[in-house]
This record gives sequence, structure tokens and C-alpha cells, in this order.
Amino acid sequence: TRTPVNVTVTGAAGQIGYALLFRIASGQLLGPDVPVHLRLLEIPQAVKAAEGTAMELDDAAFPLLAGIDVTDDLKKAFDGTNVALLVGARPRTKGMERGDLLEANGGIFKPQGEAINAGAADDVRVLVVGNPANTNALIAKSHAPDVPADRFTAMTRLDHNRAIAQLSKKVETPVADIKKIAIWGNHSATQYPDIFHAEVAGRNAAEVVNDEGWLRDTFIPTVAKRGAAIIEARGASSAASAASAAIDHVHTWVNGTAEGDWTSMAVVSDGSYGVPEGLISSFPVVCKDGKWEIVQGLEINDFSRERIDASVRELEEERDAVRNLGLI
Ligand code: NAI
Repeated sequence: TRTPVNVTVTGAAGQIGYALLFRIASGQLLGPDVPVHLRLLEIPQAVKAAEGTAMELDDAAFPLLAGIDVTDDLKKAFDGTNVALLVGARPRTKGMERGDLLEANGGIFKPQGEAINAGAADDVRVLVVGNPANTNALIAKSHAPDVPADRFTAMTRLDHNRAIAQLSKKVETPVADIKKIAIWGNHSATQYPDIFHAEVAGRNAAEVVNDEGWLRDTFIPTVAKRGAAIIEARGASSAASAASAAIDHVHTWVNGTAEGDWTSMAVVSDGSYGVPEGLISSFPVVCKDGKWEIVQGLEINDFSRERIDASVRELEEERDAVRNLGLI
């Protein structure tokens, strides 16, 4: 039998945690033959709630679940971890300025980056879900100098999946026939979902749609503001779809993208497409042999350029703000 893979989930008692943990334990994160050992990290006030979730995980009798630890101790949570899903974050509360938000999250992601640096397994892969995800990933990465920078990623897969779903409805084609959607930039309202390279049953998606007004006024804002629309409808923020996207992100990273397709991940920029080196920005990526690579050579038209640049500018502002706060 294989040695279990250690999977750390922070914010384990939260809504996304509740939807995520059962899918990890059932084998959907890494594959149907990979046993997992879960480490649930919470703040002290929420450890009891996380222990309740751990009781339910026991009760599901998942054959692949080798063990569960619940802790508020960073060292226990991250020592030997192979996959770290950083979900817990400080949400923006009413009247909170962006600087306060970034500072509060710096207080979370700096020590987590340090703990990963000190104790994680050599093959550690980190996915930051907690918002502002790109900049939280940048903070964690900058405190883990011994971990290769390509192991720190942030989640735009939910945006990617939302874009596929919206396009699928518009062109009345099943999601399985939609390929090469790309999310660029920040996981925020400025993100740019790009269909110019996408395919609908093998045909160019922008040509199939043939409606720039729909792209500009319906598609892009619907994808970018979907989170708010879910809150409005559900009375709670998207959790199961976010958990599902986190499963997809790691599964694709480890097991690869399908031939003839790619995915979207926020990864450290190497300067591709004019995105300043070092920023954690979303790109179309191909995954193979457990590694991601930014898709190269795409032609970027003026419509896309303007929108990518605007989102990247926002990321630069967030980076400058956390730099001024001494967080990176
Ligand atoms: P939630 O509020 O239900 O749960 C967050 C949990 O994190 C709480 O249990 C809290 O106690 C815990 N937590 C806070 N600080 C912590 C720390 N330092 N260490 C460990 N745990 C800590 O929130 P929910 O709905 O689960 O969302 C989590 C995050 O995911 C939010 O920041 C949200 O904005 C973000 N999100 C990101 C998405 C993306 O596409 N990247 C999509 C949806 C949500």
C-alpha cells in the first residue's frame, strides 16, 4: 500500500472546508488510489467545530482516509505536508480599508509561509483560496525562500469554470465541448475571462459567439460578479463550487491537463504577456508531470490587452501596498 499523502486544509471549520474535506477524503483531490492524511488547521475558537467535522469524516468511513489531525498549531499543521490548501483568511468587514484587509491577511499568510518553509515536504504544492488570494499567495511565497516559487499558486479555477458554464449556455453546447478558456490577472472583479482562444466543439468560441456586446456587457461582468450574485441568491457565499474548483485545481496540477486543452491558475509570472515578473497572476497554463507551464505565443488583441493590463495594474497596487506594510 502507498504511504498517505499529507493534505493540510486551513480554515477547515469554514463553509468551503465543509464542502472540501469530504471530497478530498473520498479520493477526488489526488485520485482513487491515493490515501490521504488530513491536517485541519483552525484558529483556537474554531478548533472544536473542526473536530466536529473530523467526527463526520470518521463517520463516512472513507477507505482512503488514513488519519485526521485537528490543530491550531502551524508546525503540526504544515510539518511534512505535501499539499497545502490555504482557505482560511480574514474577510473584509464593513468599513474595513484595503490596507487593513491586506495587513490582517499578512498576519495569517506570513507565518503560514514560514511554517511551510520550515517543515513542508520537498514536493509541497500550495493553493491559496482565501482572499485576496493572489496577494495572499505572494505573501506566503515571499516567506518561503527555500520552496521553489512555482509551488505557490492561487485559485482562479472557479472563475474558469464559471466562464465555461456561461459560454456553454450562450452557445448551447455541453461544457465538455468547451476548451481553452483563459482567466487572466487577479481573482477579483477586474479579472479578465478570455474566449478569443477558446473552442466550442472545435470552432473558435469568439467566432461562434460573434457578439462583442455580449462579451463586454454580459459575459465578462457575469463571470466577474458571480460571487456577489450567489450571495444575493443563496444568502451565503459560494462554498461548494469554490471547493469543487479547489479540487479541480490540485487534481489538474498533479494529474495534468487533457491533450488539446489548458486550465487557468494564478502562478508566479516570468514576465510572459507583459505581466511583471514575480507577481502571482492568472494565466492559461498546461500541466504535465506535476508541473505547470504558462501557455506561450498567444496573440493578444486590443480588447484583451486593455483588460489584462487593468487587472495586472490592480495586482501591482496590491503588491506595492503589502510591500509598504513590510509584509513581503
Ligand atoms: P468562512 O468564513 O466560512 O471560513 C473561513 C474559516 O477560516 C473560518 O472557520 C475561520 O475560523 C478560519 N480561519 C481564519 N483565520 C485562520 C487562520 N489564521 N488559520 C486557520 N484558519 C483560519 O469562509 P469560506 O466561505 O470558507 O471562504 C474562505 C475564503 O475563501 C474566503 O477568504 C473567501 O473570500 C475565499 N474564496 C475564494 C474563492 C476563490 O475563487 N479564490 C472563491 C470563494 C471564496
